Amino acid sequence: MAQARSFGCATVDVSKGDPKDQIEQILGVPEVDCGVDAVGFEARGHGKEAATERPATVLNTLMDVVRAGGAIGIPGLYVTGDPGAADPAAREGSLSLRFGLGWSKSLAFFTGQCPVMRYNRQLMMAILQDRVSIARNVNATPIPLEEAPRGYQEFDRGAAKKYVLDANGVLGAKR
Ligand SMILES: NC(=O)c1ccc[n+]([C@@H]2O[C@H](COP(=O)([O-])OP(=O)(O)OC[C@H]3O[C@@H](n4cnc5c(N)ncnc54)[C@H](O)[C@@H]3O)[C@@H](O)[C@H]2O)c1
Repeated sequence: MAQARSFGCATVDVSKGDPKDQIEQILGVPEVDCGVDAVGFEARGHGKEAATERPATVLNTLMDVVRAGGAIGIPGLYVTGDPGAADPAAREGSLSLRFGLGWSKSLAFFTGQCPVMRYNRQLMMAILQDRVSIARNVNATPIPLEEAPRGYQEFDRGAAKKYVLDANGVLGAKR
C-alpha cells in the first residue's frame, strides 16, 4: 500500500474493516464507479483468517462497493479446477459468489487474459513521453540471472517489486 501511495493512489486496507466505510472517508460516498480484481482465486482472508483460502472474497467485495451500472474488470486469475483447494466446491472451480447482487446492480463484468497488444502502443508512447512511470510505480528491480531463485522467493512472499532478470548486465543489475 505504501508503494501505491508513493505515486498518488489512495489506499483502502481491507484488513481494517469494511472497505465501504474507508471509501466513504476518501470520496464522501461509499462506492466507486468501477473496480479491478487483481487478486484472483488465490485470495486470502484477513486477521485471524489470514491463512484461510477465500477465493470469492474479492469479487463479492467488488460487487458490494461498485455503484449500480458500474463495471468490474477481472484480470485476477480464476480456474476451472483447483485440486488443492480446501473447499470441495472450489476444487471444481465453483465459487460462493453473491452474483444476484451484481446482477441487480446491472454491473458489467470483463474477464480473461489481458489484451496487452491492444494497449501496447499507447502505453509505450505514455512511457516515452514521461506521462506514466510504470517501472517506478511497480518498483521494477533488475537482478542478475544467478539471483533469480531469490527474486522468485521474495516475489512469492509478496515483495512490492517486479524483478527484471538482467541476464547480460545491460540494465546494470548489482551483483
Ligand atoms: N489476466 C491476465 O492476463 C493476467 C496477467 C497477469 C497476472 N494475472 C493474474 O493477476 C493476479 C495477480 O497477479 P500478481 O502477479 O499481481 O500477484 P501477487 O501475488 O503479486 O498479488 C496478489 C496480491 O493480492 C493480495 N491479496 C490476497 N488476498 C487478498 C484479499 N482478500 N483482498 C485484497 N488483496 C488480497 C496479496 O496480498 C497480493 O499482494 C493473479 O491471479 C495472476 O495470475 C492475470
